[in-house]
Amino acid sequence: VTRLIMDCDTGTDDAIAIMAAVGHPELELLAITTVNGNVALPNVTENTLRVLDHLGASVPVHEGADRPLVRDDLPIPRDVLNADNPEFQAPLDLPASVSSPLSSEAVRFLADFYLDDANGDVALVATGPLTNVAAALRLEPSLRDRIPRLVLMGGAVDGGNVTPAAEFNFWVDPEAASEVLAAGIRDVVIVPLDATHSAPLTAADCDAFAALGTPSGMAASRFIRHRIETDGEATAGDADTGPDAPVHDPLCVAYLVDPLVITASGHHPVAVETTGELTLGALVVDRRPWSPGGPSATVALRADHDGYAGFLRDAFSA
Ligand code: BDR
Ligand code: CA
Repeated sequence: VTRLIMDCDTGTDDAIAIMAAVGHPELELLAITTVNGNVALPNVTENTLRVLDHLGASVPVHEGADRPLVRDDLPIPRDVLNADNPEFQAPLDLPASVSSPLSSEAVRFLADFYLDDANGDVALVATGPLTNVAAALRLEPSLRDRIPRLVLMGGAVDGGNVTPAAEFNFWVDPEAASEVLAAGIRDVVIVPLDATHSAPLTAADCDAFAALGTPSGMAASRFIRHRIETDGEATAGDADTGPDAPVHDPLCVAYLVDPLVITASGHHPVAVETTGELTLGALVVDRRPWSPGGPSATVALRADHDGYAGFLRDAFSA
């Protein structure tokens, strides 16, 4: 069993990632930290609690950063950014939560957890802007040697989604992403848009999840269907499989159980642009054979649809 902590900005794909981590028999979700991102922090935390309540899961939630590490807020006002975007549901279409976060000290929690954890085997899965993780590394720089594995959704090698160059999570907090990638954590796996867009989920996948009849299968089916219906670009679909939509964050969780669900580029030096006028928040992967080295990561370039959908079915079965 792989133990993990998740750091999320819970919109619909983070919600599906949480449900997969709670449900999969080979995973044990120890805690969730919440971060400003898809929606404003109070909505992120409420969405997270809704998901856990819906599953009847008791996973401690620690609320974290309500704004980026050094910037005041998002470069584009949230209502402009969120218009028609299926990822941004506030609140999530689930009954209101009846529980509360255990603390509002996510950064302290992350630092203390990894300082105290003697086994050193708890993966950190980050599916939102990296503000909490960067702040924890600032607080306790030794965490770079204590976090055994960081799997994160963010960045794009070939074209962003918020700007031509930047993916949402890195764009919201470029300094945090930059600091986390530069920290020198041993095992960093980046799951960028290239991977998530290569394995979109289909209406048939939704049918299969719903047919499981479980709370997670039925909610995931609803959320993904909503993404398929509202994601203009993806609705055109593929001639063979019909309408589909990328579902980013759960791919990080799938990777923990089945590393072969992604095809990686290999291990390369990586960095995030923090000053570019056109490229703020862009992920830069140095794939030159003669690259000088430096903090590096495994970068997922593609994902396997059937492996991904199969992982989710297993996770939603119970
Ligand atoms: C990422 O940004 C958020 O909107 C999603 O939850 C995902 O983590 C995709 O760019
Ligand atoms: Ca997310």
